[in-house]
Amino acid sequence: MDVRIPAGQEHLPEMMGTEFIFRFYRLLKGATLYDRNNTTIEKLTREVLQTVNPFVQSQGQLYLKLVRDNFFFNSIRIPVKADRYSVFKIFSQEMGKRMLGELEFSEEIEGPQLKDFVFLLAKLDDGNESNYLYVNRQLESKGIHGISVGKLEYVRDEDLLIDSEKQKRYSKQIYFKTVNLVKEVSEGIRTQKLINIRKAKHLMQSAVNSIMQDESALLGLANIKNYDDYTFNHCVNVAIYAIALGQRIGIAKKHLSHLGMAGLFHDIGKVSIPKEVLNKTDKLSPQEWAMIRSHPVVGAEMVIRLKEWGELSARLIDAAFEHHLKFDLTGYPKLARKRKVTLFGKIIAISDFYDALVRPRVYRQYPYVSEKILGLMLERAGKDFDPALVKVFINMIGIFPLGTLVLLNTNEMGIVVQTQEDPDLIDRPKVCLLQYGEGEYRKGRIVDLREMDEGSRNFKQSIVKTLDPNEYNIHVAEFLI
Ligand SMILES: [Fe+2]
Ligand SMILES: [Fe+2]
Repeated sequence: MDVRIPAGQEHLPEMMGTEFIFRFYRLLKGATLYDRNNTTIEKLTREVLQTVNPFVQSQGQLYLKLVRDNFFFNSIRIPVKADRYSVFKIFSQEMGKRMLGELEFSEEIEGPQLKDFVFLLAKLDDGNESNYLYVNRQLESKGIHGISVGKLEYVRDEDLLIDSEKQKRYSKQIYFKTVNLVKEVSEGIRTQKLINIRKAKHLMQSAVNSIMQDESALLGLANIKNYDDYTFNHCVNVAIYAIALGQRIGIAKKHLSHLGMAGLFHDIGKVSIPKEVLNKTDKLSPQEWAMIRSHPVVGAEMVIRLKEWGELSARLIDAAFEHHLKFDLTGYPKLARKRKVTLFGKIIAISDFYDALVRPRVYRQYPYVSEKILGLMLERAGKDFDPALVKVFINMIGIFPLGTLVLLNTNEMGIVVQTQEDPDLIDRPKVCLLQYGEGEYRKGRIVDLREMDEGSRNFKQSIVKTLDPNEYNIHVAEFLI
């Protein structure tokens, strides 16, 4: 299998990363089978060079990092799709065996150097933690400076659990600190105090790091909707959905935190609307409607006045102004002149729509069934939303979003704790089984619904249907955070 890069998309790290992994893996495999002058080795070496050198030339470096089974290519995570799954898995095992977790090409290289490197890797002992030192020393002694390797950050199963617990705790801190910050900022604007934007920037950078490591913790928090004060949570949720969506379409890390900021403050114009109007569940009067519909323009004006927000201003103004504009430019505010909605505006609009529809019960028009909302979004793709972005978003949320209570065909109940990136496996998330004892449900084993029975090649477990957690008195949040 080969991965070809269509013209004009060479910059996509995902495709380049995938191509690199495929080609490099084949060469490594070849090096364990043939000697270095073999014609197959010649061909495979050429292929790797064709990927590495142009990339290093344009980007300055090629850096592949392996964290558990995730590959990061120049710091962008490469989603694992079905057609890549097996090669990624085997490559990750091959690297793991050699205790290597990083590969870096910092200069353009030539065939003989690459061969020296790969044959060095092919001969390494299994499980030796100092392999990376040995490889780097050998490369140094051969005068090869453009290639280096790093150690695998090895995690045992129990560490993995602690690690993910730590990550969850950390994400929880970020989440609630950000909610408080949005409260502070809104209050500051209302009382015309000076606003310290540094704290918000810093929190959004932490959120980006957390999402890049493992998006499930923060997405999980965003998916829990039964918080007391929905208004501020909504802003944080939109920021999280926007960052996670931005990451999936390959937006650079630096811009992801800006996107987060744009999400946090998209509804800033609402601070001028009285609470009674915002929370009203009865029909709104025409005046009240006009008030609500003015919040994008009011918000944009507010950001313009807050000069200290610097280079970020333009992004925040766009997001505030555009987030109720639809893909076909209907919606509000009414535009005097047709203009394009910015990418940030489109991302915030999708995140905002989804989060607003899964609001708590009092306001709810649609039941808390994500399938329906996502179906609705798909139906309106091309009219209300950018169709390409909607697809990525739906994939990200999954038809069984984080926190969904499900019944399996083995008659076990479980809670979705991780969704799959491959669209073909969207109905096969990771599920935390529930154990019942002493009158309550507790966390059990985590099962991956992708797992197949070796003999029959059937899936070991499948979801039969979703269940309402209230009926079983299950507090989903406790299983996610
Ligand atoms: Fe809004
Ligand atoms: Fe909103």
